[in-house]
Amino acid sequence: MTVRYHAAGTDTAHRDTRDWWRQAVVYQVYPRSFADSDGDGIGDLPGATSRLGHLAALGVDAVWLSPFYPSELADGGYDVADYRDVDPRLGTLDDFDALVAEAHRLGLKVMVDIVPNHSSDQHAWFQEALRSAPGSAARERYVFRAGKGEHGELPPTDWVSCFGGPAWTRLPDGWWYLHLFAPQQPDFNWDNPEVRADFRTTLRFWSDRGVDGFRVDVAHGLAKDLAAPLRDIGAVEACEPRDLPEDGSHPFWDRDEVHEIFRDWRGVFDEYDPPRVAVAEAWVRNSRRTAYATPQELGQAFNFDFLEAALRAGVLRACIDTALADARAAGATATWVLSNHDVIRHASRHGLPEACDAEAWLLSDGRRPALDREDGLRRALAATLLMLALPGSGYLYQGEELGLPEVADLDRAALQDPVWTRSQGRSKGRDGCRVPLPWRRDGSSYGFGSGGSWLPQPPYWGEVSVEAQEGDPAAPLEVYRTALRLRRRLLADEALEWLSGPDEAAGGLLHFRRSGGWHCVTNLSDTPQPLPGGTLLLSSAPVTGERLPPWTTAWVRTATE
Ligand code: GLC
Repeated sequence: MTVRYHAAGTDTAHRDTRDWWRQAVVYQVYPRSFADSDGDGIGDLPGATSRLGHLAALGVDAVWLSPFYPSELADGGYDVADYRDVDPRLGTLDDFDALVAEAHRLGLKVMVDIVPNHSSDQHAWFQEALRSAPGSAARERYVFRAGKGEHGELPPTDWVSCFGGPAWTRLPDGWWYLHLFAPQQPDFNWDNPEVRADFRTTLRFWSDRGVDGFRVDVAHGLAKDLAAPLRDIGAVEACEPRDLPEDGSHPFWDRDEVHEIFRDWRGVFDEYDPPRVAVAEAWVRNSRRTAYATPQELGQAFNFDFLEAALRAGVLRACIDTALADARAAGATATWVLSNHDVIRHASRHGLPEACDAEAWLLSDGRRPALDREDGLRRALAATLLMLALPGSGYLYQGEELGLPEVADLDRAALQDPVWTRSQGRSKGRDGCRVPLPWRRDGSSYGFGSGGSWLPQPPYWGEVSVEAQEGDPAAPLEVYRTALRLRRRLLADEALEWLSGPDEAAGGLLHFRRSGGWHCVTNLSDTPQPLPGGTLLLSSAPVTGERLPPWTTAWVRTATE
């Protein structure tokens, strides 16, 4: 399918078509860390609304809000106590409506996070289940089982939680419940029609409030093989796609039955005009990801291979080709991500030596090996301009437009992520990419709010703030702004033609052309490379003369092609 885009500022018709998502740039807001309107140190919805102008000026198409629902914050909001309300610390439903109205006024779509694999243990259903007898209907909404061993003292299976430790917790009455994440996140039983019906209600609830789409958390976990007896799998921390079987036979990840659920959801999305869109977070093998992304299901699925790939031309080229072919096969468009709320920010990741174990680096509080911030930022911007030239959707994470590094030296006492305690200190967790944003050079919490911030901000935060970067053409913020403005003007269809061959790829050069003579050239080597002739539109680092400096991406336009 061909989608025609028009120049920004003169025509925004493309945003109103059913296909607005196919090549959209979506900006992820982690609400607790974006902007705080009431000075309690926690970002909130009115704060986010007040900063939507920043996103419009940046030139993104949509905003995706990470969870803002009532939550005990056992997992940064991904433990949802009520799927159809706003956490009082973050605002009210009226505040949410105001955010959607303002976003739409600015021409931005709104996507929200749906967390269907598990609820919070504070959810009314789980509380009811705790009060109810084993075998009751209330317990059937979750996964309760008797334990093994003479007195049921052993967990029902050897399944391990993604955050470390057993995936089962025992209740005072002797029964165990399943949680593939923290104990405060009990897994739903998706074989239960009541669970299915309730999520349809939730999807309609937010769609009726004007939400344009959904990001589906842990989409690959919903269907489970709960037939008795439950199967042991050999206590592996099986959260990595590469550990999963190709045939859907794992007892809880990526089972074939999960697709019935998403076909059902598609029915709900299509009740709306334009249909609501969705993107799956599915940590599955490439060969099985396309199933989530078909038009009969969610429409798009995140591909994290690009995020995980080393900045080597051959690796990236293979990853891009696979992602484009998979997306085409699904009838979807590819998705590109370099940073999100779960991973080390790419400005730091790419400043570490390739062989470096990033977890170990975090555990050393960012001391060993020393991070080369300048180098990391240079590589990160080259990767970003490459990503923004690819066909498909780009998902940006708040603060990456400022080139923010990971805050690796957070004091252990300040850490909030359950990964830190659940892994018993083997992993420092994800707080370092969730530090509240710097908006201003100085002042309380650098413009985040008037009352401090829930995670400590580093002393150099003001220097990387929006205010400090505004108007400086070499600053990451202005590079992102220019890139997004140009992208809107240049986007035509979803075609890509490689002009560098696999040999050049091995030598460190990636060069492709999009329709309309838009060339993207990335030099991932230490030696200057030739630039194609034409008009240099933008580069991730200064270009002088006719050659592309090391670790730089340039966009060039040739006159007629
Ligand atoms: C997803 C979220 C992550 C969360 C987990 C459990 O992977 O992105 O932040 O911890 O699901 O909900």
